[in-house]
Amino acid sequence: MSATAVLDAVLDRSLVLGYTKIGPALRRRWWPADPAPGSMHGKRVVVTGATSGIGEAIAVSFAELGATVHVLGRSADKVTRYAERLRRAVPTAEVVEEVCDIGDLDAVRVWCADLLGRVDVLHGLVHNAGAMPPERAETAQGHELALAAHVLGPHLMTELLLPVLGAATTTGGSSVVFMSSGGMYGAGLRDTEDGIEFRDGTYDGVQAYARTKRMQVVLAEAWAGRLRGGGVRVESMHPGWVATPGVSESLPRFDKVMGPLLRDARSGADTAVWLVATRPESSGSYHFWHDRALRPTTYGWQRGEDHTKVRRFLSYVSAATGTSAAW
Ligand SMILES: NC(=O)c1ccc[n+]([C@@H]2O[C@H](COP(=O)([O-])OP(=O)(O)OC[C@H]3O[C@@H](n4cnc5c(N)ncnc54)[C@H](OP(=O)(O)O)[C@@H]3O)[C@@H](O)[C@H]2O)c1
Repeated sequence: MSATAVLDAVLDRSLVLGYTKIGPALRRRWWPADPAPGSMHGKRVVVTGATSGIGEAIAVSFAELGATVHVLGRSADKVTRYAERLRRAVPTAEVVEEVCDIGDLDAVRVWCADLLGRVDVLHGLVHNAGAMPPERAETAQGHELALAAHVLGPHLMTELLLPVLGAATTTGGSSVVFMSSGGMYGAGLRDTEDGIEFRDGTYDGVQAYARTKRMQVVLAEAWAGRLRGGGVRVESMHPGWVATPGVSESLPRFDKVMGPLLRDARSGADTAVWLVATRPESSGSYHFWHDRALRPTTYGWQRGEDHTKVRRFLSYVSAATGTSAAW
């Protein structure tokens, strides 16, 4: 193991050093090269949750690299406002405004059908939208909100957009990125319907958030396995601890204590943009990234994912979204 690999792992395990702005300040001395200027020219990407924080920064970075950026949010007013901000920040940007509540599976179906009628090819899909509902609530289809927004909606969107993601094979391929969280390390996978949907009376906003972020990592790995060898890559990542409106609203105490050390949104966005723009090779079955490097999905003292639990979880996701069960 090289000295930088050891230092990198120490930063990662210490959490505070790796997840805050200290992490990228050190790691950028050895991490892989930036995407080349203009490298996304002629490419098309969709960024969900692009009306705030990390999603906005991802959209700006893609636009700077020359991509046509579809900025997706659930509020039409906000989407228009942020699209205008993006056009001002990057005057050459090609920006397309998209409105869809990602937690509403019917809305996802309608939006995907509409997009498939408008575009032939998609090179990047970043599932960045996220929230931490303090109380348990359900969507129109009766799914718990965090589960629907982090897992079911993005899964359905991935499946429905496969034709255009696959069409990128002749122009460099495409990448799908799930924006998970380091919080997922503290959460195990649930595999019963009541557990997955938090119908067992144990709902807690932070825990539900962490569990659905664990589900994203498991789901991304399953997608990567399903599509292995084709032109569509699927990865998950975590952005570290980033100063955003989401953090100040949902975790005000954490925001106050950690404030000076939090990364800026651009730094939280970095790995998602790098993954789509450079499409690095994953090794083995890990597809979980942070600061431009693969990371373990469980630590040594934790048990690895139980295969049977994973299959039960995936079956539930397929059934709830009416999508292929061919895992
Ligand atoms: N900031 C961090 O330290 C941190 C750490 C780990 C992981 N993350 C992850 O990074 C992602 C971005 O977080 P952030 O801190 O930038 O949060 P943020 O400032 O709250 O932004 C979240 C974005 O997601 C959108 N969104 C939420 N629910 C949606 C839905 N159902 N349909 C469509 N859009 C929806 C929001 O739209 P509205 O404005 O309309 O609500 C907003 O644009 C999230 O997935 C989060 O879990 C962040």
